[in-house]
Amino acid sequence: MRRLDAAAVERELSRLGASLGTPLAVAAETASTNDDARSAAAAGAPHGAAFLADAQTQGRGRGGRSWHSPPGENLYLSVVLRPGLPASSVAPIALVMGLAVASVVERRLAPAARRGAPGDGSAAEVRLKWPNDVLVGGRKLAGILVEAQLRGDAVSSVIVGVGLNVHASSFPPELSARATSLAMLGIDDVPRELLAAELLQALGDAVARFEAGRLAPFAEDLARLDWLRGRRVDVAGVTGVAAGIDPEGHLLIHGADGVLRAVAAGEVSVIAG
Ligand code: BTN
Repeated sequence: MRRLDAAAVERELSRLGASLGTPLAVAAETASTNDDARSAAAAGAPHGAAFLADAQTQGRGRGGRSWHSPPGENLYLSVVLRPGLPASSVAPIALVMGLAVASVVERRLAPAARRGAPGDGSAAEVRLKWPNDVLVGGRKLAGILVEAQLRGDAVSSVIVGVGLNVHASSFPPELSARATSLAMLGIDDVPRELLAAELLQALGDAVARFEAGRLAPFAEDLARLDWLRGRRVDVAGVTGVAAGIDPEGHLLIHGADGVLRAVAAGEVSVIAG
């Protein structure tokens, strides 16, 4: 099993000119890179400080779920952001981070699809399940956990944690029908170090664009990648057909009563049938 090579990540970061990833901490094992980033942020870590681990013992997902984090296989990455935004504007950054991760995956999937790579890579398309699950062929390839620390009306820090399934060839039974990895999509020749650097570059670019233009520069990609559109969903008791994402980043749901409702947050259940 190959350990993550911190020097290789740093080389790729500088080759790509990434705005995030300095300083960089790479651990063989940690409880949760999001916890590492949060503690560092509380102690004054700057915008861009990044935390990678080869394995997590208490990897966390949204809604209090755990995140499958075995060693040697996948990417577990968290970064400290200090965006110049008021607290009232920060929530949609979660969507934008999802788009950034999706863009890295799309760039990697395109050549594999042209080669007719094994697995379901050639048929699979990258989609974003609101707010920020990255799906390929309907299965989850990456999850993102965004945790903001506010100080009154100001954003003190935002921790963005990304879990990307890279070399995994199987998943525990409870995940196997819902999860996928780059390897399972026919992409097994990209080092995790390069992927980590590409993610940090894409996240950094997306944060800068979000600071400058909020969601407007992302509207086209949000519509193009929206996996929920047209599906029947339930979010926090609001049921209906998903009808896109509004300029504030809220999920629009068209109810059976004909009313269009905008949901700001919540866990989406897709209703079969
Ligand atoms: C989700 O889809 O529920 C979010 C999953 C986020 C997992 C990543 S792995 C790196 C970082 N550290 C954590 O404990 N969680 C995030």
